[in-house]
Amino acid sequence: MKRFPFYTLLLLLLVACKSTIPDLSYEPGDIFMHGVASGDPLADRVIIWTRITIPHADSSVAVQWEMARDAEFRIPVQQGNFNTTAERDFTVKVDVGELRPGGEYYYRFKAYGVYSPVGRTRTAPAGSVDSLRFAVVSCSNYEWGYFNAYSHIAKQPDLAAVIHLGDYIYEYGPGVYGDTTIGRIHEPPYEIITLADYRMRYGQYRRDPDLQEVHKNHPFISIWDDHEIANNAYMDGAQNHQPEEGDFQVRRNVAKQVYYEWMPVREGGPLYRKFDFGPLATLIMLDERLAGRTAPVPGPDDSGFSSKERSMLGEEQFQWLTSQLVRTRSTWKIIGNQVIFSRLNTGRENLNLNMDAWDGYPYEQARLAEMFSINQFDNLIMVTGDTHSSWVFESTLDPFGAYNAKTGEGALAIELGTTSINSANSNESNPDSLVMIHERLLLSEEVNPHLKYVNLRDHGYLLLSLSPTAARADFYFVKSLRQRNVEAGIEARFWVPAGEYHILKSPPQD
Ligand SMILES: [Fe+2]
Repeated sequence: MKRFPFYTLLLLLLVACKSTIPDLSYEPGDIFMHGVASGDPLADRVIIWTRITIPHADSSVAVQWEMARDAEFRIPVQQGNFNTTAERDFTVKVDVGELRPGGEYYYRFKAYGVYSPVGRTRTAPAGSVDSLRFAVVSCSNYEWGYFNAYSHIAKQPDLAAVIHLGDYIYEYGPGVYGDTTIGRIHEPPYEIITLADYRMRYGQYRRDPDLQEVHKNHPFISIWDDHEIANNAYMDGAQNHQPEEGDFQVRRNVAKQVYYEWMPVREGGPLYRKFDFGPLATLIMLDERLAGRTAPVPGPDDSGFSSKERSMLGEEQFQWLTSQLVRTRSTWKIIGNQVIFSRLNTGRENLNLNMDAWDGYPYEQARLAEMFSINQFDNLIMVTGDTHSSWVFESTLDPFGAYNAKTGEGALAIELGTTSINSANSNESNPDSLVMIHERLLLSEEVNPHLKYVNLRDHGYLLLSLSPTAARADFYFVKSLRQRNVEAGIEARFWVPAGEYHILKSPPQD
Protein backbone atom coordinates (compact mmCIF):
# COMPACT_ATOMS: atom_id res chain seq x y z
CA MET A 1 0.00 0.00 0.00
CA LYS A 2 1.29 3.35 -0.96
CA ARG A 3 1.99 5.52 2.05
CA PHE A 4 1.16 9.23 1.96
CA PRO A 5 3.27 11.53 4.02
CA PHE A 6 1.39 12.89 7.08
CA TYR A 7 1.07 16.43 5.71
CA THR A 8 -0.36 15.17 2.41
CA LEU A 9 -2.97 13.21 4.34
CA LEU A 10 -3.82 16.26 6.41
CA LEU A 11 -4.15 18.35 3.25
CA LEU A 12 -6.44 15.75 1.63
CA LEU A 13 -8.54 15.68 4.78
CA LEU A 14 -8.79 19.46 4.84
CA VAL A 15 -9.92 19.56 1.20
CA ALA A 16 -12.49 16.80 1.80
CA CYS A 17 -13.91 18.52 4.87
CA LYS A 18 -13.62 22.07 3.62
CA SER A 19 -17.25 22.94 4.30
CA THR A 20 -17.18 21.81 7.92
CA ILE A 21 -13.76 22.94 9.09
CA PRO A 22 -14.11 25.77 11.60
CA ASP A 23 -12.24 28.86 10.68
CA LEU A 24 -10.99 30.03 14.04
CA SER A 25 -10.65 33.56 12.79
CA TYR A 26 -14.46 33.87 12.71
CA GLU A 27 -16.11 36.02 15.36
CA PRO A 28 -19.77 35.48 16.37
CA GLY A 29 -20.59 38.72 14.57
CA ASP A 30 -19.21 37.28 11.30
CA ILE A 31 -21.31 34.13 11.35
CA PHE A 32 -24.37 35.47 13.16
CA MET A 33 -24.44 39.04 11.86
CA HIS A 34 -28.25 39.24 12.16
CA GLY A 35 -28.39 38.17 15.79
CA VAL A 36 -30.90 35.80 17.31
CA ALA A 37 -34.64 36.04 17.88
CA SER A 38 -37.53 34.13 19.39
CA GLY A 39 -41.28 34.26 19.06
CA ASP A 40 -44.78 32.80 19.14
CA PRO A 41 -44.57 31.52 22.72
CA LEU A 42 -47.06 28.82 23.73
CA ALA A 43 -47.21 27.15 27.12
CA ASP A 44 -44.94 24.30 25.97
CA ARG A 45 -42.99 25.69 23.01
CA VAL A 46 -41.36 28.70 21.44
CA ILE A 47 -39.69 29.49 18.11
CA ILE A 48 -35.98 30.34 18.05
CA TRP A 49 -34.30 31.96 15.06
CA THR A 50 -30.95 32.95 13.62
CA ARG A 51 -29.24 33.29 10.25
CA ILE A 52 -25.87 32.13 8.98
CA THR A 53 -24.19 35.13 7.37
CA ILE A 54 -21.36 33.25 5.67
CA PRO A 55 -22.97 30.52 3.66
CA HIS A 56 -21.21 27.87 1.68
CA ALA A 57 -22.69 28.34 -1.74
CA ASP A 58 -24.61 25.36 -3.12
CA SER A 59 -24.39 23.48 0.11
CA SER A 60 -26.18 23.26 3.39
CA VAL A 61 -24.78 24.54 6.65
CA ALA A 62 -25.09 22.35 9.74
CA VAL A 63 -26.18 24.42 12.72
CA GLN A 64 -26.45 23.17 16.28
CA TRP A 65 -28.87 24.77 18.73
CA GLU A 66 -29.33 24.40 22.44
CA MET A 67 -31.70 25.67 25.08
CA ALA A 68 -31.11 25.90 28.81
CA ARG A 69 -32.67 27.21 31.99
CA ASP A 70 -29.70 29.51 32.61
CA ALA A 71 -27.59 31.90 30.57
CA GLU A 72 -24.43 29.84 31.24
CA PHE A 73 -26.03 26.66 29.86
CA ARG A 74 -25.31 24.72 33.05
CA ILE A 75 -28.90 23.44 33.15
CA PRO A 76 -29.49 22.27 29.57
CA VAL A 77 -33.00 21.29 28.54
CA GLN A 78 -32.81 20.57 24.83
CA GLN A 79 -30.53 20.57 21.84
CA GLY A 80 -30.65 19.65 18.19
CA ASN A 81 -29.39 20.20 14.66
CA PHE A 82 -30.75 22.22 11.79
CA ASN A 83 -29.44 22.20 8.22
CA THR A 84 -30.01 25.49 6.47
CA THR A 85 -29.69 26.18 2.77
CA ALA A 86 -29.81 28.92 0.17
CA GLU A 87 -33.50 28.11 -0.44
CA ARG A 88 -34.32 29.64 2.92
CA ASP A 89 -31.69 32.35 2.72
CA PHE A 90 -29.62 30.47 5.34
CA THR A 91 -32.11 31.33 8.07
CA VAL A 92 -32.59 28.89 10.93
CA LYS A 93 -35.94 28.44 12.65
CA VAL A 94 -36.67 25.79 15.28
CA ASP A 95 -39.96 25.26 17.12
CA VAL A 96 -38.60 24.02 20.43
CA GLY A 97 -41.19 21.90 22.25
CA GLU A 98 -41.59 20.06 25.56
CA LEU A 99 -40.90 23.16 27.61
CA ARG A 100 -42.40 24.21 30.94
CA PRO A 101 -45.18 26.83 31.03
CA GLY A 102 -44.22 30.32 32.12
CA GLY A 103 -40.53 29.45 32.02
CA GLU A 104 -37.56 31.67 31.21
CA TYR A 105 -35.17 30.01 28.79
CA TYR A 106 -31.84 30.81 27.16
CA TYR A 107 -30.80 29.63 23.71
CA ARG A 108 -27.84 29.81 21.35
CA PHE A 109 -26.66 28.42 18.03
CA LYS A 110 -23.32 27.10 16.83
CA ALA A 111 -21.94 26.93 13.31
CA TYR A 112 -18.37 26.53 12.02
CA GLY A 113 -17.39 26.03 15.66
CA VAL A 114 -18.57 29.50 16.68
CA TYR A 115 -21.39 30.30 19.12
CA SER A 116 -24.10 32.88 18.46
CA PRO A 117 -25.03 35.51 21.04
CA VAL A 118 -27.25 34.05 23.78
CA GLY A 119 -30.94 34.86 23.48
CA ARG A 120 -33.47 34.91 26.28
CA THR A 121 -37.06 33.87 25.82
CA ARG A 122 -40.11 32.81 27.76
CA THR A 123 -42.99 30.39 27.34
CA ALA A 124 -46.57 31.44 28.04
CA PRO A 125 -47.98 30.63 31.47
CA ALA A 126 -50.62 27.91 31.76
CA GLY A 127 -51.82 28.36 35.36
CA SER A 128 -53.03 31.53 37.02
CA VAL A 129 -50.69 34.51 37.14
CA ASP A 130 -51.06 37.85 38.91
CA SER A 131 -49.88 39.96 36.02
CA LEU A 132 -48.73 40.04 32.42
CA ARG A 133 -46.81 42.76 30.63
CA PHE A 134 -46.66 43.24 26.87
CA ALA A 135 -44.83 45.87 24.84
CA VAL A 136 -47.00 46.82 21.85
CA VAL A 137 -45.22 48.26 18.82
CA SER A 138 -45.55 49.10 15.14
CA CYS A 139 -43.88 51.00 12.32
CA SER A 140 -40.10 51.12 12.31
CA ASN A 141 -38.62 53.00 9.39
CA TYR A 142 -34.84 52.54 9.26
CA GLU A 143 -34.30 55.71 7.27
CA TRP A 144 -36.23 58.02 9.54
CA GLY A 145 -34.02 57.63 12.59
CA TYR A 146 -32.70 55.29 15.23
CA PHE A 147 -34.62 52.43 16.79
CA ASN A 148 -34.28 53.93 20.28
CA ALA A 149 -37.70 52.65 21.32
CA TYR A 150 -36.67 49.06 20.56
CA SER A 151 -33.63 49.51 22.74
CA HIS A 152 -35.78 50.84 25.59
CA ILE A 153 -38.10 47.83 25.32
CA ALA A 154 -35.07 45.52 25.39
CA LYS A 155 -34.43 46.76 28.93
CA GLN A 156 -37.98 46.21 30.19
CA PRO A 157 -38.05 43.38 32.71
CA ASP A 158 -40.48 40.46 32.60
CA LEU A 159 -42.27 41.00 29.32
CA ALA A 160 -44.49 38.11 28.29
CA ALA A 161 -43.89 39.19 24.67
CA VAL A 162 -43.43 42.09 22.30
CA ILE A 163 -46.58 42.38 20.18
CA HIS A 164 -45.54 43.71 16.76
CA LEU A 165 -48.49 45.03 14.75
CA GLY A 166 -46.60 45.44 11.51
CA ASP A 167 -44.60 47.81 9.33
CA TYR A 168 -41.52 46.03 10.65
CA ILE A 169 -39.78 47.15 7.44
CA TYR A 170 -40.65 49.71 4.76
CA GLU A 171 -40.43 48.88 1.08
CA TYR A 172 -39.41 52.30 -0.26
CA GLY A 173 -36.21 53.42 -1.91
CA PRO A 174 -33.98 56.03 -0.25
CA GLY A 175 -35.62 59.34 0.63
CA VAL A 176 -39.06 58.38 -0.67
CA TYR A 177 -40.67 58.04 2.75
CA GLY A 178 -37.66 58.43 4.99
CA ASP A 179 -34.88 60.93 4.97
CA THR A 180 -31.32 60.26 3.92
CA THR A 181 -29.70 63.06 5.92
CA ILE A 182 -28.59 60.93 8.87
CA GLY A 183 -27.07 58.31 6.61
CA ARG A 184 -29.38 55.41 7.40
CA ILE A 185 -30.05 54.73 3.75
CA HIS A 186 -32.21 51.83 2.67
CA GLU A 187 -30.55 48.77 1.11
CA PRO A 188 -30.96 48.00 -1.69
CA PRO A 189 -31.10 51.68 -2.74
CA TYR A 190 -34.42 51.35 -4.58
CA GLU A 191 -37.94 50.07 -3.88
CA ILE A 192 -37.84 46.36 -3.06
CA ILE A 193 -39.67 44.06 -5.45
CA THR A 194 -37.75 40.82 -5.95
CA LEU A 195 -36.85 37.98 -3.59
CA ALA A 196 -33.27 39.22 -3.32
CA ASP A 197 -34.50 42.78 -2.62
CA TYR A 198 -36.79 41.81 0.25
CA ARG A 199 -34.10 39.59 1.78
CA MET A 200 -31.55 42.37 1.62
CA ARG A 201 -33.95 44.84 3.28
CA TYR A 202 -34.68 42.49 6.21
CA GLY A 203 -30.95 41.86 6.46
CA GLN A 204 -30.29 45.58 6.80
CA TYR A 205 -32.95 46.08 9.49
CA ARG A 206 -31.65 43.07 11.42
CA ARG A 207 -28.13 44.46 11.53
CA ASP A 208 -29.47 47.38 13.54
CA PRO A 209 -28.10 46.90 17.08
CA ASP A 210 -31.25 48.14 18.83
CA LEU A 211 -33.52 45.81 16.90
CA GLN A 212 -31.10 42.94 17.58
CA GLU A 213 -31.12 43.72 21.29
CA VAL A 214 -34.89 43.65 21.65
CA HIS A 215 -35.12 40.37 19.72
CA LYS A 216 -32.36 38.89 21.87
CA ASN A 217 -34.17 39.74 25.12
CA HIS A 218 -37.87 39.05 24.44
CA PRO A 219 -40.07 36.79 22.32
CA PHE A 220 -42.03 38.58 19.59
CA ILE A 221 -45.58 37.90 18.44
CA SER A 222 -45.70 39.54 15.04
CA ILE A 223 -48.12 40.21 12.23
CA TRP A 224 -47.50 42.02 8.97
CA ASP A 225 -49.20 45.25 8.02
CA ASP A 226 -48.90 46.76 4.55
CA HIS A 227 -45.26 47.84 4.28
CA GLU A 228 -43.94 44.30 4.64
CA ILE A 229 -45.45 44.00 1.14
CA ALA A 230 -46.17 47.51 -0.27
CA ASN A 231 -48.08 50.58 0.94
CA ASN A 232 -51.82 50.03 1.51
CA ALA A 233 -51.69 46.40 0.43
CA TYR A 234 -54.75 44.21 0.11
CA MET A 235 -55.25 40.68 -1.28
CA ASP A 236 -54.95 41.64 -4.94
CA GLY A 237 -52.93 44.83 -5.03
CA ALA A 238 -51.42 47.79 -3.22
CA GLN A 239 -51.36 51.56 -3.62
CA ASN A 240 -47.59 51.31 -4.01
CA HIS A 241 -47.61 48.56 -6.63
CA GLN A 242 -47.65 49.61 -10.27
CA PRO A 243 -48.12 47.33 -13.32
CA GLU A 244 -44.57 47.98 -14.50
CA GLU A 245 -43.34 46.41 -11.24
CA GLY A 246 -44.70 43.05 -12.40
CA ASP A 247 -47.45 40.73 -11.23
CA PHE A 248 -48.66 41.71 -7.75
CA GLN A 249 -49.24 38.07 -6.78
CA VAL A 250 -45.57 37.31 -7.45
CA ARG A 251 -44.48 40.25 -5.29
CA ARG A 252 -46.94 39.33 -2.55
CA ASN A 253 -45.68 35.72 -2.50
CA VAL A 254 -42.07 36.90 -2.36
CA ALA A 255 -42.88 39.28 0.52
CA LYS A 256 -44.67 36.49 2.41
CA GLN A 257 -41.82 34.04 1.83
CA VAL A 258 -39.21 36.45 3.14
CA TYR A 259 -41.38 37.39 6.14
CA TYR A 260 -41.57 33.73 7.12
CA GLU A 261 -37.84 33.27 6.52
CA TRP A 262 -36.81 36.21 8.67
CA MET A 263 -39.47 36.51 11.37
CA PRO A 264 -39.75 34.18 14.39
CA VAL A 265 -43.33 33.19 13.52
CA ARG A 266 -44.70 29.65 13.50
CA GLU A 267 -45.31 28.12 10.08
CA GLY A 268 -47.93 25.75 8.76
CA GLY A 269 -51.11 27.82 9.19
CA PRO A 270 -52.49 31.26 8.46
CA LEU A 271 -50.69 34.23 10.05
CA TYR A 272 -53.83 35.12 12.02
CA ARG A 273 -53.48 33.08 15.18
CA LYS A 274 -54.17 32.88 18.90
CA PHE A 275 -52.05 32.76 22.07
CA ASP A 276 -53.23 31.85 25.56
CA PHE A 277 -51.55 33.24 28.67
CA GLY A 278 -53.22 31.12 31.30
CA PRO A 279 -56.66 32.27 32.50
CA LEU A 280 -55.53 35.91 32.54
CA ALA A 281 -55.36 36.64 28.79
CA THR A 282 -55.91 35.41 25.28
CA LEU A 283 -54.20 37.29 22.46
CA ILE A 284 -55.71 37.08 18.99
CA MET A 285 -53.57 38.39 16.14
CA LEU A 286 -55.51 39.40 13.03
CA ASP A 287 -54.27 39.66 9.44
CA GLU A 288 -55.98 42.72 7.99
CA ARG A 289 -53.99 42.81 4.76
CA LEU A 290 -53.50 39.56 2.89
CA ALA A 291 -56.02 37.09 4.33
CA GLY A 292 -59.23 38.77 3.22
CA ARG A 293 -58.92 42.51 2.55
CA THR A 294 -60.54 43.64 -0.68
CA ALA A 295 -59.61 46.75 -2.66
CA PRO A 296 -60.17 50.16 -1.06
CA VAL A 297 -62.58 52.69 -2.54
CA PRO A 298 -61.71 56.36 -2.99
CA GLY A 299 -64.30 57.68 -0.53
CA PRO A 300 -67.68 57.25 1.13
CA ASP A 301 -69.45 58.53 -1.99
CA ASP A 302 -68.25 55.56 -4.02
CA SER A 303 -71.09 53.23 -4.99
CA GLY A 304 -69.24 50.23 -3.59
CA PHE A 305 -68.38 51.83 -0.24
CA SER A 306 -70.91 49.90 1.88
CA SER A 307 -70.97 46.77 -0.27
CA LYS A 308 -71.22 43.39 1.47
CA GLU A 309 -68.56 42.19 -0.94
CA ARG A 310 -65.93 44.42 0.65
CA SER A 311 -64.06 43.00 3.62
CA MET A 312 -61.10 43.56 5.92
CA LEU A 313 -60.86 40.06 7.42
CA GLY A 314 -62.75 37.92 4.93
CA GLU A 315 -65.31 35.27 5.83
CA GLU A 316 -62.92 32.57 7.00
CA GLN A 317 -60.98 34.82 9.37
CA PHE A 318 -64.19 36.46 10.62
CA GLN A 319 -65.64 33.05 11.56
CA TRP A 320 -62.37 32.00 13.15
CA LEU A 321 -62.23 35.22 15.24
CA THR A 322 -65.82 34.75 16.37
CA SER A 323 -65.22 31.17 17.46
CA GLN A 324 -62.03 32.10 19.34
CA LEU A 325 -63.76 34.91 21.24
CA VAL A 326 -66.82 32.81 22.05
CA ARG A 327 -64.69 29.92 23.26
CA THR A 328 -62.13 31.69 25.43
CA ARG A 329 -62.63 31.87 29.18
CA SER A 330 -59.70 34.23 29.70
CA THR A 331 -60.27 37.40 31.69
CA TRP A 332 -58.74 39.70 29.06
CA LYS A 333 -59.30 39.22 25.35
CA ILE A 334 -56.64 41.17 23.47
CA ILE A 335 -56.96 41.64 19.72
CA GLY A 336 -53.86 42.56 17.72
CA ASN A 337 -55.43 44.81 15.10
CA GLN A 338 -53.47 46.65 12.42
CA VAL A 339 -55.71 49.63 11.61
CA ILE A 340 -58.10 51.73 13.74
CA PHE A 341 -61.42 50.00 14.39
CA SER A 342 -63.30 52.74 16.26
CA ARG A 343 -65.17 55.39 14.33
CA LEU A 344 -62.84 58.35 13.99
CA ASN A 345 -64.27 61.69 12.98
CA THR A 346 -61.60 64.15 11.90
CA GLY A 347 -63.76 67.20 12.51
CA ARG A 348 -63.06 68.49 9.04
CA GLU A 349 -65.44 68.37 6.13
CA ASN A 350 -64.55 66.04 3.26
CA LEU A 351 -61.89 64.42 5.38
CA ASN A 352 -64.12 62.38 7.55
CA LEU A 353 -62.99 58.80 7.14
CA ASN A 354 -59.72 56.94 6.73
CA MET A 355 -60.37 54.65 3.77
CA ASP A 356 -57.47 52.34 4.74
CA ALA A 357 -58.80 51.82 8.30
CA TRP A 358 -61.95 49.97 9.41
CA ASP A 359 -63.95 53.14 8.68
CA GLY A 360 -63.23 52.44 5.01
CA TYR A 361 -64.83 48.98 5.25
CA PRO A 362 -68.17 49.84 6.89
CA TYR A 363 -70.04 46.62 6.17
CA GLU A 364 -67.59 44.35 7.94
CA GLN A 365 -66.84 46.98 10.59
CA ALA A 366 -70.54 47.02 11.53
CA ARG A 367 -70.72 43.23 11.38
CA LEU A 368 -67.81 42.93 13.78
CA ALA A 369 -69.33 45.52 16.14
CA GLU A 370 -72.57 43.56 16.05
CA MET A 371 -70.76 40.32 16.82
CA PHE A 372 -69.11 41.98 19.86
CA SER A 373 -72.41 43.41 20.97
CA ILE A 374 -74.53 40.24 20.59
CA ASN A 375 -72.02 38.20 22.55
CA GLN A 376 -71.56 40.89 25.21
CA PHE A 377 -67.87 40.13 25.51
CA ASP A 378 -66.28 41.69 28.55
CA ASN A 379 -62.69 42.89 28.88
CA LEU A 380 -62.03 43.13 25.15
CA ILE A 381 -59.04 45.32 24.25
CA MET A 382 -57.98 46.04 20.70
CA VAL A 383 -54.36 47.09 20.30
CA THR A 384 -53.80 48.94 17.05
CA GLY A 385 -50.82 50.13 15.01
CA ASP A 386 -50.48 51.84 11.63
CA THR A 387 -51.11 55.52 12.41
CA HIS A 388 -47.74 56.55 13.97
CA SER A 389 -49.85 58.19 16.68
CA SER A 390 -51.27 57.22 20.08
CA TRP A 391 -54.99 56.74 20.75
CA VAL A 392 -57.28 55.66 23.57
CA PHE A 393 -60.90 54.94 22.66
CA GLU A 394 -63.91 53.67 24.49
CA SER A 395 -64.64 51.94 21.24
CA THR A 396 -67.93 52.44 19.45
CA LEU A 397 -69.13 53.05 15.92
CA ASP A 398 -71.94 55.20 17.21
CA PRO A 399 -70.37 57.80 19.51
CA PHE A 400 -73.45 60.04 19.39
CA GLY A 401 -75.95 57.21 19.92
CA ALA A 402 -76.32 54.71 22.72
CA TYR A 403 -72.99 55.57 24.26
CA ASN A 404 -72.39 57.49 27.46
CA ALA A 405 -69.12 59.39 27.34
CA LYS A 406 -69.18 59.92 31.12
CA THR A 407 -69.41 56.23 32.08
CA GLY A 408 -68.34 54.34 28.97
CA GLU A 409 -71.67 52.55 28.92
CA GLY A 410 -72.54 51.40 25.43
CA ALA A 411 -68.91 50.97 24.33
CA LEU A 412 -68.05 47.63 22.71
CA ALA A 413 -64.39 47.41 23.63
CA ILE A 414 -61.37 49.49 24.54
CA GLU A 415 -59.04 50.40 21.69
CA LEU A 416 -55.43 51.42 22.38
CA GLY A 417 -53.44 52.73 19.43
CA THR A 418 -49.66 52.57 19.72
CA THR A 419 -47.47 55.15 18.04
CA SER A 420 -44.58 54.27 15.73
CA ILE A 421 -41.19 53.09 16.88
CA ASN A 422 -39.84 55.89 14.70
CA SER A 423 -41.86 56.33 11.48
CA ALA A 424 -42.86 59.93 10.83
CA ASN A 425 -46.20 61.42 11.85
CA SER A 426 -47.87 64.84 11.56
CA ASN A 427 -45.28 66.39 13.78
CA GLU A 428 -42.47 65.89 11.30
CA SER A 429 -44.21 67.88 8.59
CA ASN A 430 -46.17 70.45 10.62
CA PRO A 431 -45.31 72.79 13.49
CA ASP A 432 -46.13 71.54 17.00
CA SER A 433 -48.67 74.29 17.56
CA LEU A 434 -50.70 73.23 14.51
CA VAL A 435 -50.59 69.55 15.43
CA MET A 436 -51.78 70.36 18.95
CA ILE A 437 -54.73 72.30 17.55
CA HIS A 438 -55.64 69.20 15.54
CA GLU A 439 -55.32 67.02 18.66
CA ARG A 440 -57.66 69.32 20.60
CA LEU A 441 -60.16 69.25 17.74
CA LEU A 442 -60.14 65.43 17.61
CA LEU A 443 -60.54 65.23 21.39
CA SER A 444 -63.49 67.58 21.61
CA GLU A 445 -66.80 66.08 22.81
CA GLU A 446 -68.56 67.40 19.72
CA VAL A 447 -66.23 65.51 17.37
CA ASN A 448 -65.19 62.28 19.14
CA PRO A 449 -66.79 61.90 22.59
CA HIS A 450 -65.44 58.33 22.77
CA LEU A 451 -61.82 59.39 22.17
CA LYS A 452 -60.07 59.81 25.54
CA TYR A 453 -56.51 60.53 24.46
CA VAL A 454 -54.62 61.31 21.30
CA ASN A 455 -51.02 62.23 20.61
CA LEU A 456 -50.02 62.87 17.00
CA ARG A 457 -46.49 64.03 17.82
CA ASP A 458 -44.45 61.46 19.69
CA HIS A 459 -42.84 58.08 18.99
CA GLY A 460 -42.19 55.08 21.16
CA TYR A 461 -44.38 52.22 22.32
CA LEU A 462 -47.26 51.10 24.49
CA LEU A 463 -46.75 48.96 27.57
CA LEU A 464 -49.89 47.01 28.38
CA SER A 465 -50.07 45.51 31.88
CA LEU A 466 -52.86 43.12 32.81
CA SER A 467 -54.02 41.95 36.23
CA PRO A 468 -57.23 40.14 37.19
CA THR A 469 -58.78 43.46 38.24
CA ALA A 470 -57.45 46.03 35.75
CA ALA A 471 -55.53 46.73 32.57
CA ARG A 472 -53.05 49.60 32.46
CA ALA A 473 -51.75 51.37 29.37
CA ASP A 474 -48.43 53.22 29.67
CA PHE A 475 -47.44 55.31 26.66
CA TYR A 476 -43.64 55.49 26.53
CA PHE A 477 -42.21 58.16 24.25
CA VAL A 478 -38.57 58.45 23.20
CA LYS A 479 -36.59 61.66 23.59
CA SER A 480 -34.91 61.48 20.22
CA LEU A 481 -35.14 59.87 16.80
CA ARG A 482 -32.20 61.51 15.07
CA GLN A 483 -29.60 60.58 17.67
CA ARG A 484 -29.05 57.18 19.15
CA ASN A 485 -30.42 57.83 22.61
CA VAL A 486 -32.20 55.23 24.67
CA GLU A 487 -33.96 57.70 26.99
CA ALA A 488 -37.73 57.35 27.13
CA GLY A 489 -40.41 58.14 29.66
CA ILE A 490 -44.06 57.45 30.38
CA GLU A 491 -45.99 60.43 29.01
CA ALA A 492 -49.51 59.14 29.61
CA ARG A 493 -51.06 56.37 31.68
CA PHE A 494 -54.60 55.00 31.76
CA TRP A 495 -56.45 52.23 33.57
CA VAL A 496 -59.34 50.05 32.48
CA PRO A 497 -61.18 48.32 35.34
CA ALA A 498 -62.15 44.70 34.60
CA GLY A 499 -65.82 44.44 33.72
CA GLU A 500 -66.15 47.99 32.32
CA TYR A 501 -65.33 49.72 29.08
CA HIS A 502 -64.30 52.87 30.85
CA ILE A 503 -60.99 54.71 30.78
CA LEU A 504 -59.69 55.99 34.12
CA LYS A 505 -56.79 58.32 34.81
CA SER A 506 -56.09 56.77 38.20
CA PRO A 507 -56.11 53.17 39.43
CA PRO A 508 -59.57 51.73 40.02
CA GLN A 509 -60.54 51.40 43.68
CA ASP A 510 -61.19 47.82 44.78
FE1 LIG B 1 -46.38 52.53 9.32
